Amino acid sequence: MTAMPAAAPIDLLPPGLLDFLHVATPDAWVDWALSQPELLLIDHAQCEKKAASTAMSLLYRYVDRPLLLAKMSQLAREELLHFEQVVGLMEARGIAYRHLSASRYAEGLRRHARGEEPYRLVDVLIIGALIEARSCERFARLIPHLDAELAKFYRGLVKSEGRHYEDYLMLARQAAPEAIDDRIAFLAEREADLITMPDSAFRFHSGVPA
Ligand SMILES: [Fe+2]
Ligand SMILES: [Fe+2]
Repeated sequence: MTAMPAAAPIDLLPPGLLDFLHVATPDAWVDWALSQPELLLIDHAQCEKKAASTAMSLLYRYVDRPLLLAKMSQLAREELLHFEQVVGLMEARGIAYRHLSASRYAEGLRRHARGEEPYRLVDVLIIGALIEARSCERFARLIPHLDAELAKFYRGLVKSEGRHYEDYLMLARQAAPEAIDDRIAFLAEREADLITMPDSAFRFHSGVPA
């Protein structure tokens, strides 16, 4: 009897995720990431920490939304666990954790968030869904090129970040007074711009090498 072949990483993505993102990660980014394995892990650790902190700030700001509180509390814990796991992997590989400047990506998205509630919350949640979806897609793209240990870790992350994307999108629809498809399309287009434009420094969410 032959073993079932492992699912292709791209098959692990939640349905609809690749349509939600308007562009696939360019191959040039994948090559850039593989040429800097240390930077990839250090910035990945930063991203997990930042994801936890974004969820925590929503917990402070929107105390009157029980579903958001439950989901964001769980999400913050999961992101901190991912953070510990990346830092553990770095330690095992002798990679020193150092400070890195943030990429333009998250700020480049957040500056489009509207100021007035509930639109501010809706936009922040859509942006959260975009960041999670992109992370999920990038982990899946990297997996075929990684060593067994890192590939296994990233397979697990594809699943959890995929669930985070779904949770953020569900919360955005729940918080919105009307349909949000146009708003999603607008923000996804800004996201696609950031992903396809040249970037000076490599980061987990950077564009392509300048
Ligand atoms: Fe994570
Ligand atoms: Fe996540």
